[in-house]
Amino acid sequence: MNTPIRVAITGAAGQIGYSLLFRIASGAMFGPNQPVILHLIEIPDEKAMNALQGVCMELDDCAFPLLKGIVPTSDLDAGFQGVNWALLVGAVPRKAGMERKDLLGLNGRIFTGQGRAIARNAAKDVRTLVVGNPCNTNALIAMTNAAGVPARQFFAMTMLDENRAKTQLARKAGVEVTAVSNMAIWGNHSATMYPDFFNARITNRPVPDVIGHREWLEKDFIATVQQRGAAIIKARGLSSAASAANAVVDTVRNLTTPTREGDWFSVAVCSDGSYGIEKGLMFSYPVRSNGKDWSVVLDVPLNDFSKAKIAATEAELKEEKSMVADLLGK
Ligand code: NAD
Ligand code: LMR
Repeated sequence: MNTPIRVAITGAAGQIGYSLLFRIASGAMFGPNQPVILHLIEIPDEKAMNALQGVCMELDDCAFPLLKGIVPTSDLDAGFQGVNWALLVGAVPRKAGMERKDLLGLNGRIFTGQGRAIARNAAKDVRTLVVGNPCNTNALIAMTNAAGVPARQFFAMTMLDENRAKTQLARKAGVEVTAVSNMAIWGNHSATMYPDFFNARITNRPVPDVIGHREWLEKDFIATVQQRGAAIIKARGLSSAASAANAVVDTVRNLTTPTREGDWFSVAVCSDGSYGIEKGLMFSYPVRSNGKDWSVVLDVPLNDFSKAKIAATEAELKEEKSMVADLLGK
């Protein structure tokens, strides 16, 4: 048996936590031969800690063979002690009528303390994936406060958007979702994100060749993906949870297993200036992994339509960055 991977999950008693922990403990994230120890972090509030205790009881009751320990805590130092992965989910979700960046005032500050605690306590190889919204800019806050932890070990989640986009394209083309590849989400996990249908492929053919309905692609498809989170909040009265947890599993799997030849996946990483994006922004790109390390795919062609969409989402991320200037570290 391998040494257990320690995984911290903040907001562990929340909606996403409830869908996520059991998937990790079952082996869905790291595979059937990889034991895990879960560090479950909640706020020091009686109701939250009671709920967390209940979740721990349910984890016990699953008798997962791969689950080698649970550390439930509201203490950040204990919570991030020795962890190899930090999944930062705990944050307030938006309500109907809000944009995700409206949460910055409420949520941004959470990620200063968590970034510092990760730097103080986590394993050297710790990789941090931010889910709590607005996730790109919260990841920027965590990353800049985590002195000494390399920027390339921080990520923000846009996989849910990629999965949403793939399903929309598959439905329109009347194919299985597995036929859709190379579905890049560029930029911010927000209403400005750009789901790049020009470079996406269906059974290895460019999407615009398979789906000739250009107006649907340029308008309906993009708007549906951009507004899917809001549509779910309107329908459920709560923000997406099971699909978000599934996207967390997909993101970590994509980062820890080699990407299929010719394909890529979407995740926000710290821009090194690739594609002319301002350095240091947490920007979603098409990314490939060799199972251990990742790189941005650099030769994706962008036409004027795509360039304009990417400029708009970059502008929003710059605006969000300026809104949290007082929370940024190094
Ligand atoms: P939720 O309200 O059900 O749960 C959040 C949990 O986090 C609560 O249990 C709360 O006590 C806890 N929490 C709050 N502050 C914390 C802190 N400082 N430390 C530790 N725990 C803390 O919310 P949810 O539905 O699970 O959503 C969580 C976040 O994920 C929201 O911000 C939501 O908008 C975001 N989200 C992002 C994506 C994405 O694709 N990036 C998708 C879905 C949801
Ligand atoms: C989503 O995309 O479902 C989440 O970011 C939740 C939200 O606020 O839309």
